Amino acid sequence: LNKRESIRPASGNDEAAVAELALANNMFGIDELEGFTAIFRAPVGGELQDHQWWVSDGIDARAVAAAYVAPEPFADRLWNLYFLAVAPAAHGRGTGTRMIEFVERQLQSAGESKARVLIVETSSTEQYAGARGFYRARGFDEEARIRDFYGPGDDKIVFWKALHA
Ligand SMILES: CC(C)(COP(=O)(O)OP(=O)(O)OC[C@H]1O[C@@H](n2cnc3c(N)ncnc32)[C@H](O)[C@@H]1OP(=O)(O)O)[C@@H](O)C(=O)NCCC(=O)NCCS
Repeated sequence: LNKRESIRPASGNDEAAVAELALANNMFGIDELEGFTAIFRAPVGGELQDHQWWVSDGIDARAVAAAYVAPEPFADRLWNLYFLAVAPAAHGRGTGTRMIEFVERQLQSAGESKARVLIVETSSTEQYAGARGFYRARGFDEEARIRDFYGPGDDKIVFWKALHA
């Protein structure tokens, strides 16, 4: 199996490993786990149409990366990559690139009638400088900024990418 083939839909059994990816990357604190549970369980349980959680397995079959993508409500065929994280020990080895390229291919193969644009929202803080560089390098345009969205001095930056030429 090549690395691409190890990407699979998440199951309920992946919840702890995926939460750990977020915690290990300081994306949220332990007090915010309940919010994470809500965005993980309903889509993985198939309760939300088109919502997809993907995981990439490491050597011990524990998720080493995870992504969550869903269509944005009130938009026209625009999808939002709500979550992307790679285990800190595996950063910088192409895992995040393989994950986002996989998600893009999934959406592209669904066709333009289903998916036109992929956006991803991230923070303006220093902690996310690497993530911002990552999205730019993957061909996303920095499209919009909402001041103080996540907190005073912590803007939301929206990255945008067309899925079809
Ligand atoms: C952002 C993240 C998903 C990238 O995954 P990854 O597997 O480390 O990334 P890859 O190895 O595929 O790619 C590395 C690329 O990321 C970018 N990057 C990573 N760290 C960077 C940094 N500190 N500064 C600038 N660019 C950086 C570079 O563009 C690099 O590209 P290169 O291969 O041309 O050098 C991962 O670092 C992560 O999980 N970060 C913490 C969680 C997070 O911020 N998620 C996104 C929130 S919206």
